[in-house]
Amino acid sequence: MKLSFNKVQERDLDVSTVYIAEKEADFSDYSFTTTEHEYLKRQLAQEKKAIDINSYFKWSYVRLIPDEGEQYIIYEKIRKTACQLVPQLKENQHQAIVVVDVSNRPDMIMAFLEGLGLSLYSFDKYDTKEDKNYKLLEIKIFSEGISEEELQNLESLLKAVFKSRDLVNEPLNKLNAVELSQAFKNLGKESGFSVEVFNKKKIESLKFNGLLAVNYGSVDPPTFTIMDWNPSNAINNKPFVLVGKGVVYDTGGMSLKPSSSMNDMKSDMAGAATVGGIMYAIAAMNLPYHVMGLVPATDNRVDGNAYVPGDVIKMHNGKTVEVINTDAEGRMILADALSFAQQYDPELVVDFATLTGSASVAIGPMGIISLGNISQKIFKKIEASGKNTYERVVPFPLWEEYGEMIKSDIADMKNVGGRDAGAITAAKFLENFVDYPWIHMDIAPYAYLEKFDSYRGKGATGVGVRLMIDFFKQYTNDVISKQNLVE
Ligand code: BES
Ligand code: ZN
Ligand code: ZN
Repeated sequence: MKLSFNKVQERDLDVSTVYIAEKEADFSDYSFTTTEHEYLKRQLAQEKKAIDINSYFKWSYVRLIPDEGEQYIIYEKIRKTACQLVPQLKENQHQAIVVVDVSNRPDMIMAFLEGLGLSLYSFDKYDTKEDKNYKLLEIKIFSEGISEEELQNLESLLKAVFKSRDLVNEPLNKLNAVELSQAFKNLGKESGFSVEVFNKKKIESLKFNGLLAVNYGSVDPPTFTIMDWNPSNAINNKPFVLVGKGVVYDTGGMSLKPSSSMNDMKSDMAGAATVGGIMYAIAAMNLPYHVMGLVPATDNRVDGNAYVPGDVIKMHNGKTVEVINTDAEGRMILADALSFAQQYDPELVVDFATLTGSASVAIGPMGIISLGNISQKIFKKIEASGKNTYERVVPFPLWEEYGEMIKSDIADMKNVGGRDAGAITAAKFLENFVDYPWIHMDIAPYAYLEKFDSYRGKGATGVGVRLMIDFFKQYTNDVISKQNLVE
């Protein structure tokens, strides 16, 4: 979808307009007729928060900035306000609108635009009925406090989220592991990061045996994609490494899922799509960081040679795993990618994975469960970014005792830990392959929604992209302010 935000110096009086305002705002300068203005004042006096005026040749939509709750809650409310406006924009078939910053609150305008942009996403490429979907094309912004650059960055961010959503919404018959790696190449070409793809032969030579084991049951080869954004002005010496689970379809393998649980399993590569989306946004915004993305990819299927419960696999780092359940495949492929990441001596590794149903059972489709070994200081930053973007992150413990639950009688560990604490034992398993600052994000609850949820939509949400871009931006500000202090 093509969405464009353009800053304008003059309001186009013929174009339908959204006014974002505080409740005390004065509308006398906004060329409403006397009757319209009187109506507006009456509605405001009655504490209406959404006021619509039909002037026949155009509409005016006045939306008040919420004034209750913490700052991040207010941002979320205004994103939702934007989403609620979309049915009216569609109904009235606007091709362009002007958004006016009445109360000089550029931060609120940005949040509104973000909510609006995200709400306009649709995945309709396989819908053969023509012109079914309305597309708002141009959004003109009248606000002194917002720069062209900020608007361009927001466009890039939304595009990145849409790329990520598109990949997740693609079914397996359109996107196998090879096609996923090709999609990353295309993202790299479009935004400027470099991409290398390991084929099955290379994967075998590197002994990514976890990835190969999951792939035994597939007719399609696995891939391992390395994305790299290393600008000359990078302010970090050691790279940030992002790792994404790329299970393009999860049948469960020999431990086959019941079909009711299999329905949405094309979304089991959402972690990979998140990593691709983050890389795309970072490169498109030209952020001054060295960031890498690693994606092991395969489908998890049943076939004559499929791996079975009881198998013992010697992983890339030499540790052995007894397979108890072939449906715990995500950790098998992530483990190899995580141990491979060690060679980069990373500043921080963040992995994204639709790893466990247990995470969904624990918190429902409201947030991300995180586990890892990073310092409180860094975690607080991630948590703050979670609030800013409303992709909230909740920490779970990685206590030593959970390790007991994945002890094997015959190998170094087993790949499942029983019914209790499933999201935790999964991360405990991954911990065996990590030797650097690391945070694991179990995005299973939030990556693919069964029910429509405001601007997050239905189906793929693109979760994690906005979160990490916010995190990187905070990090920049931090570093820059430190440099200023030194100078
Ligand atoms: N891909 C699933 C997790 C999942 C479930 C993601 C629902 C999104 C929605 C994962 O590979 C899986 O099957 N996990 C098992 C682990 C179990 C066998 C220990 C699970 O959570 O049931
Ligand atoms: Zn599974
Ligand atoms: Zn899975």
